[in-house]
Amino acid sequence: MSEPGDEDGRALPALKTEIPGPESVALIDVLARHESPGVTARRGRANEARGLDRDPIVWERSRGSNVWDADGNRYLDLTSGFGVALIGHGHPRVVETVHQQSELLMHAMGDVYPNPPRIRLMERLAERAAGDLSQCILTSGGAEAVEAALKTATLSSGRPGVLAFEGSYHGLSYGALAVSHYKESFRAPFMGQLGPHVIHRPYGEDLTRLEALLAGPEAHEPAIGAILVEPILGRGGQVSPPAGWLTGLRSLADRHGAVLIFDEIYTGLGRCGDWWGGDAEGVVPDVVCVGKALGGGMPISAAIARPQIMAAWGQSQGEAIHTSTFLGHPVTSAAALAALDVLEEMDAPKRARAIEAQVRERFRDRVRGRGAMLGVETGSPGLAARLTGRLLSEGILVLPGGVDGDIVGLTPPLVITDEQLDWGLGAIDRAIEAERG
Ligand SMILES: Cc1ncc(COP(=O)(O)O)c(C=O)c1O
Repeated sequence: MSEPGDEDGRALPALKTEIPGPESVALIDVLARHESPGVTARRGRANEARGLDRDPIVWERSRGSNVWDADGNRYLDLTSGFGVALIGHGHPRVVETVHQQSELLMHAMGDVYPNPPRIRLMERLAERAAGDLSQCILTSGGAEAVEAALKTATLSSGRPGVLAFEGSYHGLSYGALAVSHYKESFRAPFMGQLGPHVIHRPYGEDLTRLEALLAGPEAHEPAIGAILVEPILGRGGQVSPPAGWLTGLRSLADRHGAVLIFDEIYTGLGRCGDWWGGDAEGVVPDVVCVGKALGGGMPISAAIARPQIMAAWGQSQGEAIHTSTFLGHPVTSAAALAALDVLEEMDAPKRARAIEAQVRERFRDRVRGRGAMLGVETGSPGLAARLTGRLLSEGILVLPGGVDGDIVGLTPPLVITDEQLDWGLGAIDRAIEAERG
């Protein structure tokens, strides 16, 4: 039976069973038989993943800032599902658009025969993106967008080397894994296949040192043609770079003919308190990667570049050298158009800044990041995973963050109410106190 707040996802948590409940446990038993053991956190590695020796909950339904599990327990989602539900879960405008578009045209043909939502989305992204970023390669997930950006940069600069940064997360498919650095364990088994073209340097490193990698006797081999950076480290623990650093990277790239790529898959579309992570310094990259929140819950992403950079691909000679079956999928493209409408109408950056103010009021100098892309410092490596487990038992979803697992990530949906946020923050505060003893 529906309860007050159920309809629009503005409710506080309400738990009916122990966590996880019997329905979740039964489904996880099936999952454990049929999914690669490396994927979902279940009993075997639950200790490490969530600090408690038990199965995950199984999500069955969601709306706004609320998620319900298979046992009917209601949670408050302070992660917005990996940052995807920036406008809230199951936003009615997106749901309606997906419904209508699937009746009209469920699938088109990638690069061969385009469809109206795909075309309109690229036009819209050109309007929304910073500066003159106005030509796209549409993709489905974040890693794919990063790889499309890297291919574009390589063609444009003619140099295969990539400067990327420690603690960064760009996805886990091979091309993206090569540039990701977050967690050695993700890379170690595949190291022999990741290629020597990438060099990782500390995030925020002194610009003179970085410049030495681009030119001069200590220049990296192969020569660096792309600088890839998250304007705020996301999974790496909501780390903001030193003031002026992004501007410095812009001028390094300009001086040495490298292509500057901002991975704004987490930060973008208003989450960081501006439409884009570079806005605070007025920096426009050559290519921006956008994903996560773009589809309002549907899988769509993009690499958006300056026309003169994208021109390096040359005219397609009939068979595109970069495409994919689902490129510019009509339903996900239509969903993205609806999500962009909602983000613009709600003035996403402004709402993100209001969320930041509320979080800072409680946690003050223990807060990192900007906008609705925040982390609370626990001061103790590994503690965030234990807190995640404890908070789950109270009906609050958070993710541990930071390379040392000491950050409680807070990336709530922008539609979260002040009351919901206050409730969640209070629970986090108490949980930190309790875990510290
Ligand atoms: C900054 C950033 N880039 C890329 C990715 C990879 O996206 P996906 O998991 O959709 O491949 C992520 C995912 O968390 C991310 O945070």
